[in-house]
Amino acid sequence: MRLCFASSNSGKIEEVNSFFANSKLTSSVDVYGVDSWDTYLSSQFDPQETGSTFQENAAIKAKEAYRLIKAPVFAEDTGLCVGFLNGAPGVYSARYEKNDQARMRKLLLELKSAKENQRTASFVTALCLMLSSQDSITFFGRVKGHIALSQRGEKGFGYDPLFIPDGFEQSFAELTTDEKQSISHRGQALGRMANFLQRNTLKKLTAKMS
Ligand code: IMP
Repeated sequence: MRLCFASSNSGKIEEVNSFFANSKLTSSVDVYGVDSWDTYLSSQFDPQETGSTFQENAAIKAKEAYRLIKAPVFAEDTGLCVGFLNGAPGVYSARYEKNDQARMRKLLLELKSAKENQRTASFVTALCLMLSSQDSITFFGRVKGHIALSQRGEKGFGYDPLFIPDGFEQSFAELTTDEKQSISHRGQALGRMANFLQRNTLKKLTAKMS
């Protein structure tokens, strides 16, 4: 089955590709990105993240992609929720500031008066899979951790240099893609989708054979 990942975020695309390269679904699911669409269609893909939850925003992106390509697709919405900031930036994580560096600077500034035990945070992902115009299903992932006092590491993307997952000394940006994926919000949501696809692919094969 060909399955489109509707995102233009290169960090997410790299993680999704690496997930499927290591997955037992490799031979049955061929994942491709918006960059493989024709130029006209990809220029039309501009979903407006107007939802108030990660689930709503993931569905907006998946529906918009499905409307354009009329083929199986998945999209995800992710955000960083910080306890001291009552869950902010949350669904506004991408709009918190104009670029990654400015977003991280702002976050550190907003946590200036937070005590060490008040820097708890989690990354949340909602991933919406649409196999037809009628069928959508959402998978979630969440990883808990805390916000570092300063940026650490060069790997990953987005807020990774500031996020230290529980049980680790390193930030996400100091872990390899595989290490991050094995515990991350996105890795969990992708794992749940992969299990669903495998169960359904197997069901279809069994139905065909009987
Ligand atoms: P969106 O899901 O594309 O709206 O991304 C929300 C914001 O969170 C953007 O600033 C992303 O760069 C950031 N982000 C999304 N996923 C991750 C991640 O896995 N690590 C760090 N930052 C992320």
